[in-house]
Amino acid sequence: MSMAQPGLFISFEGIDGAGKSTHIAGLAGAFRAQGRGITLTREPGGTPLAEKLRALVLNDTMDPLCEALLMFAARRDHLQQVIEPALARGEVVLCDRFTDATFAYQGYGRGFDLQVLRQLEAWVQIRPDDPAHLRQPDLTVWFDLPPDVAGQRLASARVPDRFESQPLAFFTRVAAGYAQRLAEQPARFARIEADQPIDAVWRNVHQAVVQRGWLKPQSPP
Ligand code: TYD
Repeated sequence: MSMAQPGLFISFEGIDGAGKSTHIAGLAGAFRAQGRGITLTREPGGTPLAEKLRALVLNDTMDPLCEALLMFAARRDHLQQVIEPALARGEVVLCDRFTDATFAYQGYGRGFDLQVLRQLEAWVQIRPDDPAHLRQPDLTVWFDLPPDVAGQRLASARVPDRFESQPLAFFTRVAAGYAQRLAEQPARFARIEADQPIDAVWRNVHQAVVQRGWLKPQSPP
């Protein structure tokens, strides 16, 4: 571990029920075991203000523009308060969802204007250290699960929020949105076949990070 080690920004995506959480925790453990500082966080959320916005956006009825603006307002605060400072300290930021979720859910799921989302992305994600470029994850791990399988997993889970209670057709559109994001920026994505036993999914997630040279191969799950 050296002070000069650059930060690493990894986001995790997928439709509700795709099973991100255990693998995010697994990667956090693997990075820690190799001496890396970790920031574990989520969107919408990750700061006191953004967590308040999360509660609103997951529970209160609102129009799609309002929903998109609140997602990006939460993201702005999260970037400024948590993500950028952690990256500047050379940490690994593991973020449960980021802007791909806004394109997938608000854009493809709700049918909201993608050009407006691109505009908001350009305003919100300007890099403080390099204003000519946008902050994007170095890697996005996409848990790709057929929407009907995800639906069965969710059915036995907790009380659904405004997104989890959407019909299958909504999640089919969201999944297509993720596929489209991957097609636009393939180098940034690792697509994980999530309809497999959990240990097989873990091996694929771990391998995606090892392949990029960010973890040594022998690190345990
Ligand atoms: P999720 O990671 O599923 O939280 P939990 O596992 O606690 O339910 O995220 C909450 C929801 O927010 C999820 O249904 C997707 C939605 N979402 C958007 O619609 N747009 C966004 O930009 C983000 C970040 C999340």
